[in-house]
Amino acid sequence: MSFSNKILSWFQQHKRALPWRETRNPYIIWLSEIILQQTRVEQGLPYFLKFVETYPTVTKFAMAEEDELLRLWQGLGYYSRVRNMLKASKIVLEQQEGEFPTSYKDLLKLPGIGEYTAAAIASFSVNTAHAVVDGNVFRVLSRYFGIDEPINSTLGKKLFTKLAHELLDLENPGEYNQAIMDFGALQCKPKNPNCEDCIFRLECVARKEGTVHLLPKKIKGKKSKNRYFHYFLIEVNGEILMTQRGDKDVWANLYELPMIETPADTTLDALMELPEYQSVFGDEVPRPIVGPIKHILSHQAIFASFYHINIENTTWDKKNEWNYILSENIDKLAKHKLMSSFFEQYYFSAN
Ligand code: ADE
Repeated sequence: MSFSNKILSWFQQHKRALPWRETRNPYIIWLSEIILQQTRVEQGLPYFLKFVETYPTVTKFAMAEEDELLRLWQGLGYYSRVRNMLKASKIVLEQQEGEFPTSYKDLLKLPGIGEYTAAAIASFSVNTAHAVVDGNVFRVLSRYFGIDEPINSTLGKKLFTKLAHELLDLENPGEYNQAIMDFGALQCKPKNPNCEDCIFRLECVARKEGTVHLLPKKIKGKKSKNRYFHYFLIEVNGEILMTQRGDKDVWANLYELPMIETPADTTLDALMELPEYQSVFGDEVPRPIVGPIKHILSHQAIFASFYHINIENTTWDKKNEWNYILSENIDKLAKHKLMSSFFEQYYFSAN
């Protein structure tokens, strides 16, 4: 049996019953694929269900407020994805009369849709013969064929894409694409793959050579940068000062507590001496609540410290971009995960 037939027959027995596999609707498949780029299936499932229920059609999605989408997306991270989704849905509504495209070429024109997503939507919806090449596919192919070319080098990307297309089952590309991804997710896992009980145990090159744990190979990306954020919880008469982040940095446009960033970790005294601190809080002493909490993003590690500031007895001017929000309305603001976790763990459970 060929590689593809083996994968397909494995899939018949092991495939996961997932709601986005019950449909050929390209809009619904698009929703699932973008969510699944952010998280694993188990964590993505409740998000998917919530989005489908709230926005059953691309027209409904296109008419949503960005803030509303960000709130539903909360916790998935990488918020530009959902902003791109809104842009894409508006294009579909305005230029294609709400008809979500299914052709690989047309899909690629939409914001936030790259080669992987276009191949997934086109093959799952109308069975277009386009191979998906995602992390699962890189892993399965690099191990099966024993290829140690880095998957993120130009040559590696070309080589694995070519191989994936050669192996694609042309009669059933949609099913085959799902199958190889599930095989990577369930059998040929990144850690502790189940090699003893694998359909390819006799022919897998990496297994023969003892290199399963070394593959796929990846060139190390740029070094992660450390950043130090100091957040201030300022509460006055049941209202909390909040601010919206700018659109150039991480967590663009999301809401958070007022914050000062320092280039290195810092003592309370040093923090208090900063002109940015002095100019708004004067000599008011911040009371540490928690931190530093390490929060990892794709190319940076945020070390976040939270402080309580009591300004009830001081005269001071808050910054213009800080706004009082009733504490029961904090929940309704679109926040990043670090901020919503802080409120859950250190504010709402304590109040
Ligand atoms: N990961 C990405 N897309 C997927 C899909 N359609 N099914 C399962 N896992 C996936």
